[in-house]
Amino acid sequence: MGPFFTAAALVVLLPIWVLAAAKHHEEKPMRLRFGGDGQFKILQVADMHYADGKTTPCEDVLPSQVAGCSDLNTTAFVQRMIQAEKPNFIVFTGDNIFGFDATDAAKSMDAAFAPAITSNIPWAAVLGNHDQESDLSREGVMKHIVKYKSTQAQLNPSDQDVIDGFGNYNLEVGGVQGTGFENKSVLNLYFLDSGDYSTVPSIPGYGWIKPSQQFWFQQTSAKLKKAYMKKPQAQKSPAPGLAYFHIPLPEYASFDSSNFTGVRQEGISSASVNSGFFTTLVEAGDVKAAFTGHDHLNDFCGKLTGINLCYAGGFGYHAYGKAGWDRRARVVAATLEKTNTGGWGAVKSIKTWKRLDNQHLSTIDSEVLWTKSSAGARRKKPIGGP
Ligand SMILES: *[C@@H]1O[C@H](CO)[C@@H](O)[C@H](O)[C@H]1NC(C)=O
Ligand SMILES: *[C@@H]1O[C@H](CO)[C@@H](O)[C@H](O)[C@H]1NC(C)=O
Ligand SMILES: *[C@@H]1O[C@H](CO)[C@@H](O)[C@H](O)[C@H]1NC(C)=O
Repeated sequence: MGPFFTAAALVVLLPIWVLAAAKHHEEKPMRLRFGGDGQFKILQVADMHYADGKTTPCEDVLPSQVAGCSDLNTTAFVQRMIQAEKPNFIVFTGDNIFGFDATDAAKSMDAAFAPAITSNIPWAAVLGNHDQESDLSREGVMKHIVKYKSTQAQLNPSDQDVIDGFGNYNLEVGGVQGTGFENKSVLNLYFLDSGDYSTVPSIPGYGWIKPSQQFWFQQTSAKLKKAYMKKPQAQKSPAPGLAYFHIPLPEYASFDSSNFTGVRQEGISSASVNSGFFTTLVEAGDVKAAFTGHDHLNDFCGKLTGINLCYAGGFGYHAYGKAGWDRRARVVAATLEKTNTGGWGAVKSIKTWKRLDNQHLSTIDSEVLWTKSSAGARRKKPIGGP
């Protein structure tokens, strides 16, 4: 091979090499990020229980509300919530459809998620215990969900061998574009499949978050922590995280009205065994709040060992509820801190409130779930302790 040929080959090859190298070093683009107002708002819709639409009646509404009430009222509520809150993200925390009464699972999901799809707002969903009761399996339901163009929902991570459930994934929320945090995930969202029912004959009741899922969570949390705490803009503590799944953890039973905000009008329908996910969350340290549905008559948030355990309250009209007690949704808003130079930095605080499906979409139970300063404060030594 003469020198001329080598040079020519180099000329041809060089741009490809440079391109490949650049591509390799490029940060993976953030699919979600904080906007220029320094806020990221998440609408949680729990238990839509969608079935066949117009022909599916409402449950547990006042006698005067029965006529003309159907799944379409659930649709209207999603639309009203989107319009009122203009969220940056929507998450559907399971029992999105009520499989027993849905003739066609795919069609039912198409209708249930339609307001989110047409809004062009990114959204995600996890499975509940009723989503698989129509003509699609849990896997089939999740595979249908991830096919929607606007969804951020994902199947299980492909780099894990065996992981229980369908639809365990995480999403990163980047800092404001053009700031030092633009390539950092300043808020981490975790989505888990809490299962449907126990398949262990000696254990009755609902499913639970399995060790394989907890292992995935631990690894993911550790990876995100490392990235957040390294240069540029190395942070001293991990970015806050929020976890979304359907079935409450047994620890949701740790509260009474003296230490939660909201109401508990029925028991905590967690699994009958404790698989340790709460302890795993405490150990990881980044998740500040978990959000579930499942118990439609409970809508409280309580704080245990630094982690808020929250219900959203029942949303769907073809779901059991309480006549005269408005269907509701939970909103979470994370706010960034201003940097010395006037830009936006890390997450400063996380707030939550609920909206009721009444004439004014009333806002209730506003509370601060987490603030950066309180988390960063050093714990005082107890006085006079041993
Ligand atoms: C259901 O929707 C219909 C039609 O918009 C409305 O008239 C009715 O008040 C709604 N029912 C409830 C319980 O919100
Ligand atoms: C973020 O990544 C992009 C693309 O790699 C880069 O151009 C930009 O300088 C990075 N921003 C910061 C603050 O590091
Ligand atoms: C809430 O208060 C009750 C007593 O009213 C107590 O038994 C329970 O441990 C408290 N829970 C938490 C998480 O502090």
